[in-house]
Amino acid sequence: MNILFVASEVAGYAKSGGLADVASALPKALKKLGHNIKIVMPRYYSIDKTKLNSLGAMGVPMGSLGEFWCEVFTTKMGSVDIYFIDYETYFGRANLYSDESGVAYGDNAERFIFLSKASFELARLLKFKVDIIHANDWHTALIPLILKAKYKYFKEFKSSATLLTIHNMQHQGKFQDKNLIDIAEVGWESFTPNNLEEFGGLNFLKSGITQSDVINTVSPTYSKEIKTPEFGWGLDGYLRARELLFGILNGVDYSEWSPKNDKYIVKNYSLETIKDKRLCKRDLQKIFNLPLEDNTPIIGFVGRFATQKGIELISQAIWEILEFDIQMVILGSGEKWAEGFFSDIAKRYPKKFATYIGYSNELAHKIEAGSDMFLMPSLFEPCGLNQIYSLAYGTPPIVRAVGGLDDTIRNLDKSIEKPNGFKFYKATKEALVGTIQWVVNIYYNDRKSFNLLIKNGMKDRFDWTNSAKKYEKLYKLAINKKELEV
Ligand code: ADP
Ligand code: GLC
Repeated sequence: MNILFVASEVAGYAKSGGLADVASALPKALKKLGHNIKIVMPRYYSIDKTKLNSLGAMGVPMGSLGEFWCEVFTTKMGSVDIYFIDYETYFGRANLYSDESGVAYGDNAERFIFLSKASFELARLLKFKVDIIHANDWHTALIPLILKAKYKYFKEFKSSATLLTIHNMQHQGKFQDKNLIDIAEVGWESFTPNNLEEFGGLNFLKSGITQSDVINTVSPTYSKEIKTPEFGWGLDGYLRARELLFGILNGVDYSEWSPKNDKYIVKNYSLETIKDKRLCKRDLQKIFNLPLEDNTPIIGFVGRFATQKGIELISQAIWEILEFDIQMVILGSGEKWAEGFFSDIAKRYPKKFATYIGYSNELAHKIEAGSDMFLMPSLFEPCGLNQIYSLAYGTPPIVRAVGGLDDTIRNLDKSIEKPNGFKFYKATKEALVGTIQWVVNIYYNDRKSFNLLIKNGMKDRFDWTNSAKKYEKLYKLAINKKELEV
């Protein structure tokens, strides 16, 4: 199949979270299955264009704003062709989505309409006859509508079908400015509650949900959860109304995330040489100036400081957690209160608690390898990748049983086969503290069970090839549905 895969971030080039990991690994896996796939993303300022090949200028019609000229760059990501849309006014900025103080850029709607339209123009430029356009999250969720309103009349898209993958329901791309309809050129007939309209404004994700041929989320449990008011962020009714809504679990790019070949960690190890993991622990303690104690368990956390990740729960529970005989290392950035709070705790408890506020891929790898357990107390979690990486590193995850966390972690419980981690259910401080107390107790007093978790987790495989085959099926389904409609 000819696949046009459009995403706002791709690991290796620009990343704020798991979307980037998926947008890099899934296309590679699809390519291995024999598909012809092209990725399109913005050329953000941080991406060095001198390392890319220019394809020259390309005009992108922005409706009432006129035509904007960008430059297209390309390179090979492994064996996959990746294309970068270079337009200084929209993408020549330090961050991906928001300014230094965390406020979303005021023109994000325009920026991502531009990316979406540029993807269509690029396919035309390349004379790429597209079977399936795979859009991801709100940024590119207008693609199905833009296809219907305009591009289906071009020969490259005559039989194109669409798949929208929802990586996160919380972020929907809601905008008050109705003039965006004329910029996107999607016609005022799209301004209805069953498409783009919401409370008099626009909701990009809603349009994607209602207009895409097929939609999916990134785990089976999350695909069910989002049909309920608790997880649907206001769109649960529209999701319940869709028959073709699926859940496909993300995989792991083991060339990036495996203790056997991780280039960032001080000593590579595997299940057979698990003893060497302690060298990574030592390295982590050195980096974070923690006492070099082999027997004190380190609880690791890596993630965006966002309510989704349960940072309020951690902050409420931290005083009681720090009563236990543990060390804790937190890597993250995001909400300013949390950055300040965790920095302050690190100053108060320098022998137990350490944090790095910011983004560091290298530290993320070192924490996976050097910690004894990995904490993910998310309030909701579409899939979650860090808990799956933790399994591979022999670092049993402590998770709240939601979304992909529930699908990937098997609780240490006599009734459960092959346990690989610890699960709790209630999103309360008490549940979190109680669980950590239990985990710490197992670590100190029941090594056999703890080692079993390490072993089972390291044996688990979350291969992208499996998931890519499921995406292949969804593509076929979308194409068949499209053919039936014609
Ligand atoms: P989400 O996409 O919701 O942020 P995931 O668990 O799917 O959550 O993916 C998060 C990805 O981003 C992981 O690869 C994780 O290592 C990475 N990550 C998150 N925060 C940081 C950070 N501060 N520094 C380095 N990597 C980070
Ligand atoms: C989102 C979700 C996360 C998921 C990632 C990749 O950012 O929050 O759970 O793993 O996308 O699909």
